[in-house]
This record gives sequence, structure tokens and C-alpha cells, in this order.
Amino acid sequence: MNTNNQIASQEIIIFDTTLRDGEQSPGASMTKEEKIRIARQLEKLGVHVIEAGFAAASPGDFDAISEIAKIIKNSTVCSLARASENDVRRAGEAIKHAAFGRIHTFIATSKIHMENKLRMTEDQVVERAVQAVKWALEYTPDVEFSAEDAVRSDIDFLVRVFDAVIEAGATTINVPDTVGYSIPAPWGERMATLIKRVKNSDKVIWSTHCHNDLGMAVANSLAAVSNGARQVECTINGLGERAGNASLEEVVMAIKTRSDIFNLTTRIDTTQIVPTSKLVSTITGYPVQPNKAIVGANAFAHESGIHQDGVLKHRETYEIMRAEDVGWNANKLTLGKLSGRNAFRTRLKELGIELESEDAVNAAFSRFKDLADKKSMIFDEDLHALVSGEFVHEASENYKLVYLHVASITGETPHAVMTISDNGQEKRAEADGGGPVDASFKAIESLVNSGAELQLYSVNNITSGTDAQGEVTVRLAKGGRIVNGQGADTDIVIASAKAYLNGLNKLHAKDEKMNPQV
Ligand code: KIV
Ligand code: ZN
Repeated sequence: MNTNNQIASQEIIIFDTTLRDGEQSPGASMTKEEKIRIARQLEKLGVHVIEAGFAAASPGDFDAISEIAKIIKNSTVCSLARASENDVRRAGEAIKHAAFGRIHTFIATSKIHMENKLRMTEDQVVERAVQAVKWALEYTPDVEFSAEDAVRSDIDFLVRVFDAVIEAGATTINVPDTVGYSIPAPWGERMATLIKRVKNSDKVIWSTHCHNDLGMAVANSLAAVSNGARQVECTINGLGERAGNASLEEVVMAIKTRSDIFNLTTRIDTTQIVPTSKLVSTITGYPVQPNKAIVGANAFAHESGIHQDGVLKHRETYEIMRAEDVGWNANKLTLGKLSGRNAFRTRLKELGIELESEDAVNAAFSRFKDLADKKSMIFDEDLHALVSGEFVHEASENYKLVYLHVASITGETPHAVMTISDNGQEKRAEADGGGPVDASFKAIESLVNSGAELQLYSVNNITSGTDAQGEVTVRLAKGGRIVNGQGADTDIVIASAKAYLNGLNKLHAKDEKMNPQV
């Protein structure tokens, strides 16, 4: 394993934790294939460190991290590990084939966590933290240590822990606001104080990891950067536990746009921001709100006449960034009705999509041809949606939509007639419903009796225009597990039925995993 994924002197390390902390959002848990697709895109985006998961959480997480470690060449691949021997060794095994591999170990340092959760004394916490760093060093010289709930930890104790883990060999020290409690000024001050007081602080990279409970994750991260942090931990679209983490796109564009203040750079290819945001949104089923900074559909839309007039006369009157610099309008018209299999395959490759088998390529190509018949222009986003289904393991794809006929007539009760394939066996059902989607879901349930609770239903258009594909997300909960199902089609009722079946397939397929904070 190489050890020097080097950074330039004025560079901020972007540590992306979409695949770990982001995955802790309810229902955002991803399959191995989905994680690999996102990891490839994160590498293309130029993130320095990809936190690919928490190896001890489940065999599925372990596999995903080791696959990603084998595939990714230009980013460091990291696994999280609690400060226990088993966790650290699992993390070490998972990253062992990485070109650049990191173990990120953590333990809580606040009184409230130590007394009530860990039931450990301060001395025991220091001893365990040091031991965890030493175990990690057996696998890689790149070891990050985090003091969970640093925001509510006693500063003298934090200094003591950090002194000890640096002495033990940790190379990155992460200071998390685990509960999103801080506000910018004290957070910046905390970083400055730690850097000043901790011994050998100049020998390590200081990192910040902020949650968004008070809506200040990005502001707090930037305050830490202004006070000496050189790594920011963040996620695409701000995905993450509870209210989420600092959003990568906002942190990166703030540093770039206000280089007059920060005088720092990142390695991010900003034109890949919007494609990455869309991919993460599609895979996790978390839509991006239209007014979200940088990646929201309205982020560069000027509605008022005065603004439009100003922008037409001189763009910078109302724009501080260019839409194309963050990847808007990058959705190229890629393929058409007459495109052949080779062009299709080549474009998928350019998008970082590698289908596992020739059968999967053929199935996706045939869906592409069907789509090209219905829709005049096919964009990259359409291709992403089109191949999504190919990443569900054949073995785990119990249910498939075979046929759907829905009648929705003014003044009459909507009625659905449906055939699904259940492990290869075709089954037919009919049902009435409050609307065509409700009727379709009831028809499915009459066949599978899943007992799953529908927690969320949302429809988004993948591209613009009335012939656009509708992308439907359903969130299903059963027995304490939550999954998101997705389906895309130019007919949103069909997209809805596909999404529901996809959710049921995921409920069947996903293995149990634990949350690192538990
Ligand atoms: O929020 C947090 O404290 C974490 C740690 C594991 C770094 O995610
Ligand atoms: Zn976190």
C-alpha cells in the first residue's frame, strides 16, 4: 500500500463520508454495487479521502469497502472503526488492497458519552484510544483518530487524549461536532485552542466533522478551516445522520468562490459536483430541495424581471458562481434512437458505469431502445436511471413488474390489473384504489402481503419536458428496517409500481448492519 497521497501546501483535504455517515440517513443504506458507483464518481470528483463504510457494521459493508479499496486508485479509501480490536482489525482487512488506505478510529470523549454510553473512566478512554491507534498502525501508517462529541468534551481532556494519540502515531486528528451543537465562533476558537495546546500539533492534519442540527454544519466547518483545520469531513447533498453533515458542494464552492478570504484550494473538479449530487440523490432516494445551494434546481434560476435583466446585461450583477463551473448544463444529449450497442456501452463507461455481465448490458440496452421510442432526447441522467435496476443482484430480485393496466376515469374508482413475476413465477391481481398509484400498490400487496409501511412517496422528473422520465422513490419500513425503492419510467404509475417492487426486493436483500454510534 502506498502511503503518500500527497497534498499541496495550501490544499484543504476533502474527506467525503457519504458512503458512511451519509448512509446513516434513514433509508439511505446502499447495496455494494450502489456504493461502488458512488465511489467511482467521488474519485472522478477528486475527493481526497473516501470513507467507504464501517467494516465491522456488517459483512455487506466489509465487502463494499474491500471492493472499493481494490477499484479506487486516486483517492484514499478509509474505513471507520470503533476503538475496539475487532473493529480496527476488520477495517484493516477491508482496506488492505487499497492504493492508499486509511483507518479512522474513534471513541467518545464527552462526560455524557463516557459515563452513560461507554461507562468508562477518562483513563480507560485514553488507554483505549492509544491502543486503537496502535492496532491500526499494524495495517496502515495513515491513521485518523476522532474524539466523538468533541463539541461537548472538556477541552483539557481533549488535549490529553490528542497528545496521547499523536504520540501513539495518529496522523490526522478529527474534531467532530457529533450533535450539531456548535456555532461558528466557538467552533473556530476550539480548533485554534487545540492546535495551540496539543503537543506536536504541527505533525498532524487537523480535521473538522460537523453535523447540521442547527443548520450550521458548513459555517462551522469553514470557521474551523479559518482556524487551522486542513481537512473537512462532508457529504454530497449534506446527507447524513439526523439533519445531515456539512455539504461537500457548499464547503468546496465557498472555499473556491471566497478564495480572497480563505486563500486555499481543494482538489475537487467542480464540474463534477452536479452529476455527483444527482447520482447520490438517485441512489439514496433523497431528493435535493429546489432551493438547495449549488445543486438545487433553482440555484441558478433568476425569476425576478430585474434580476433577469441584470444577468442578461452582465452576468455578475446577480451571479457569484457560474452554473457550468459546478456542472449544470453538463447533461449532454448523449444518445438517440439510432445509437448502437457500442455507443451505448461506451457512454456508460464514460459515466463510470460498468455492468457486470453481457446479459446486464443487453437488458439495459433493450430498455434504452424502449425509452428512445418514447422519448426524443436521452440524457446522461436517463442513462443513470435506466441502469439502476441492473445493480440489484439477480439473486435478490424476487419481484419484477411484468404487466400493468390502470384505468383512471373521471368519476370512477381507479382500478389496476397487474402481473408480477415472483421468483420467476407469474402472478396476477386486480385492485381498486384512491388513485392509480394507490390501486397499483394495493394490487402488489394483495400478491406479496409484505406488511411493509409506506413512509414516503415522491416523484421527480429526471430531466425537463413532458416526455421526461419520472423517477419515483418509495420508502418502506418493516421490522425496524427502512429501505428506499426507486423506479423510473416515462409513465409515472409504472415508475411507481417499479419503485414499490424495488423497495420490496431491497427489504429482502439487505443484510443487517449496526450504526457505529450504537
Ligand atoms: O459524528 C461523529 O462524531 C462521527 C464520528 C464517527 C467521526 O461520525
Ligand atoms: Zn458524524
